[in-house]
Amino acid sequence: MATAGNSRLHVSKHPLVQHKVTLLSDTATDSPLFRELTCELTQLLVYEATADLAVRLFDYETPMETATGVAVATRLGLVPILRAGLGMVEGATNLLPRVMVYHLGIYRDHDSHEPVSYYNKLPRGFPCDLMLMLDPMLATGGSACAAASALKDRGATAIKFVGIIAAPEGVAHLNAEHPDIDIHVARLDRELDENKYIRPGLGDAGDRLFGT
Ligand code: PRP
Ligand code: URA
Repeated sequence: MATAGNSRLHVSKHPLVQHKVTLLSDTATDSPLFRELTCELTQLLVYEATADLAVRLFDYETPMETATGVAVATRLGLVPILRAGLGMVEGATNLLPRVMVYHLGIYRDHDSHEPVSYYNKLPRGFPCDLMLMLDPMLATGGSACAAASALKDRGATAIKFVGIIAAPEGVAHLNAEHPDIDIHVARLDRELDENKYIRPGLGDAGDRLFGT
């Protein structure tokens, strides 16, 4: 993992991640493969994003003797940002099978590119120590900032963003509005175009995931 000039930005350097994100962004990749790669990339990125989880030690019995075991002591929650964040839930829950999943619906307005919230299933008074926001794309950062604000409004204290491709503009925006949030991605791309799409990017993540 590298921090790419920003202490909160973690761009995976893992060869498998780089291989899979290349395939993901290839225009020849169809929806079924896109979903499979999104799932695999999410597992790898969540693995990296959870490397600093708190643990507790306890005694337990192996068939041979009493040993010291390790248990994760952080209660985790997932927040997929609909729609494209849904594609990341399977990969994250493969790794964290007991995690709670709270859905947040946000889309970017086509003309203004501003986030529009339309669905909020976040709990009040957070039963989690750490929330992982899931969204494959961090473009202007508007959606991620709105999601983070919604989480904090409901009482979330520790949040990380797990995405697949980020633009420098989105990283700067999220970092400026929510400097406490770590950003974990597979790739940091060059720039946004005039329509606020990431270049080279992968196109519209939701459309590619769901074949629309
Ligand atoms: C995409 C993506 C992010 C958002 C990123 O969602 O999944 O949520 O755009 O852009 P931003 O950083 O400029 O806010 P989209 O609005 O296309 O909605 P969808 O997932 O429902 O297709
Ligand atoms: N949303 C996407 O799905 N792709 C982009 O490049 C930007 C926002």
